[in-house]
Amino acid sequence: MTLRLLVNGEDRVSRSDAMTPLIDVLRDEFHLTGAKPVCREGFCGACTVLLDDEPVMSCLLPCGLTRGRAIRTVEDLSSGGMLSDLQTAMVDHDAVQCGMCFPGMLMTLTSVLSRHPAPSRDDIRAALSGNLCRCTGYERIVDAALSLSSAAVAR
Ligand code: FES
Ligand code: FES
Repeated sequence: MTLRLLVNGEDRVSRSDAMTPLIDVLRDEFHLTGAKPVCREGFCGACTVLLDDEPVMSCLLPCGLTRGRAIRTVEDLSSGGMLSDLQTAMVDHDAVQCGMCFPGMLMTLTSVLSRHPAPSRDDIRAALSGNLCRCTGYERIVDAALSLSSAAVAR
């Protein structure tokens, strides 16, 4: 069986069964290894990718359910070797430690900031409730995201 998927703006063909978790198709077939299979049970968010700009846990999502929808992974955030503004803000705020949670964090925050250009600190915290980090204590991550809020820029 073949399955056509739209990944980071490109048509890709998968030979996986439709029930294969999307993360396995991304990593094993397409070699997009940014999303991390940490818990594989829907608890940690390290596997988060965007599906039609909404964060989804790719460890729980059968790839067959993504037909005709736009999948975006962390590999798509940088362009021409340049980090996205969000990635740059994370570096500038010294927000990254081991990095295991970061692909998921970045995709969730990319979605929040695209849908809601002026999120509050509480909005960002709420959006990250499904993304667990064992290292950072979250504050620098939230500070970095908040630095891109148009409300913060206007202050
Ligand atoms: S690996 Fe998907 S939620 Fe943890
Ligand atoms: S930076 Fe290590 S788990 Fe988040």
